[in-house]
Amino acid sequence: MNTPQHYDLLLRGGTVIDGTKAPRFEADVGITAGVIVAIGDLAGHSADEVINATGRIVAPGFIDSHTHDDQAVISQSDMSFKVSQGVTTVIAGNCGISAAPLRPDMELPMPLNLIEAPPEGRFTTFAAYLEALRQTPSSVNIAAMVGHTTLRAVTMSSLDREANAEEIAAMQALVEEALQAGAVGLSTGTFYPPAVKATTEEIIAVGRPLTKHKALYVTHMRDEAAHVMGSLEETFRIGRELNIPVVVSHHKVQNHANFGRSKVTLPFIQETMKRQCVGLDCYPYTAGSTMIRTDRGMLDGRVLIASSVPHPECAGRDLDDIAKEWGLSKDEAARKLQPGSAIYFLMDENDVQRILAFDETMIGSDGIPVGESPHPRLWGTFPRVLGHYSRDVGLFPLETAVWKMTGLTARNFGLHGRSTLKVGHHADVVVFDAASIRDAATYEKPVQAAEGIDAVIVNGVVAWRNGKHCGARSGQVLTRTSTA
Ligand code: ZN
Ligand code: CU
Repeated sequence: MNTPQHYDLLLRGGTVIDGTKAPRFEADVGITAGVIVAIGDLAGHSADEVINATGRIVAPGFIDSHTHDDQAVISQSDMSFKVSQGVTTVIAGNCGISAAPLRPDMELPMPLNLIEAPPEGRFTTFAAYLEALRQTPSSVNIAAMVGHTTLRAVTMSSLDREANAEEIAAMQALVEEALQAGAVGLSTGTFYPPAVKATTEEIIAVGRPLTKHKALYVTHMRDEAAHVMGSLEETFRIGRELNIPVVVSHHKVQNHANFGRSKVTLPFIQETMKRQCVGLDCYPYTAGSTMIRTDRGMLDGRVLIASSVPHPECAGRDLDDIAKEWGLSKDEAARKLQPGSAIYFLMDENDVQRILAFDETMIGSDGIPVGESPHPRLWGTFPRVLGHYSRDVGLFPLETAVWKMTGLTARNFGLHGRSTLKVGHHADVVVFDAASIRDAATYEKPVQAAEGIDAVIVNGVVAWRNGKHCGARSGQVLTRTSTA
């Protein structure tokens, strides 16, 4: 009764983990025209290309819930640092920073320069940005947000104050333009100097258009240290006032004095989830990475310079050693190295594990795809969760790990029709070896592809196979309407 079918691509003999947290099962997967058309025993069926998945896990392609890949999807369109990990979709526009709208003539204050938008490659409207991505696809799908700090920089004459009514109206219009073009939300980064002076009221006013578009509010909060609880309250209030879902980006409690406080933040988040839509993500490392800062809290622990415009030769070195060599204090040396980015060891392993293991935590890399010494999370986040934290540490079952990077993330960001393995869904798929998957990127050698990933398929096209990029550029622009 089962007439033989012919598929474009057949993944044969694998164990399916479908991204819903359901237990794994043995099945073949048939793909045609970019869509999953069959899951089950497909013996006797044929395909243009067959991938032997015997002894391997077949899972939905991973969604990186937190990236700064806004420009990389254009300038490094092979996206090897993500595809090599099994990532097939990136959410861009985080921490208040987006690739659009920008003016070609404007100076980009830190941290807007983290995404390296060259003057000739800037987009004055969000529509133009998404159109460029459709014209010249990347290797991964992209869903993008518009950044509040970017909007401040394009509309305000000075950033060291709250926006006035006129500027708020201008920013609001730009949010509306971005949402109409297909942005999935608005992000803020009130932790960073150009947005520090933005009040809660300013953010609520600028974010007004989110309500009718049912778009998200995603935030790198004002404070992830002593005042983390106040920051959570502010985030939840913005979500309530706008009646929209919120996402707490890269949740952490940093600085030694705050170690252990995830025991307080997580129950508060859980309690709030009963009343409003809250999401959160986390990267699996005890060090963060951002622009070079000179404030005391950030320089307390070990600081590794990732990139420096005036001193590129310092990339990969400890700030302590550089400061000693120059006969300067740590903050004086940091000032000399600006602008640039650095890696800060400011978290406790117990907090990282507690936050990762929290049921609703999504996996997001927060990788910064710039320079030769990036934080290892850029190349290692997803295999590190699957190999190190799920398999070796035993923090959660593999099914849960996969869900935290697929089904959960798709649900929170409203990306339907992909990210769980179901007939009719877009064929974003990763084939990996549960026994050997592991992150190879380290702080010392961060640019290293993960091990144990056999194949990565984006919209039905094989993008990565046996440690090599296949040259495919089959990524799509995902909007909340296109995927609904
Ligand atoms: Zn951030
Ligand atoms: Cu970020």
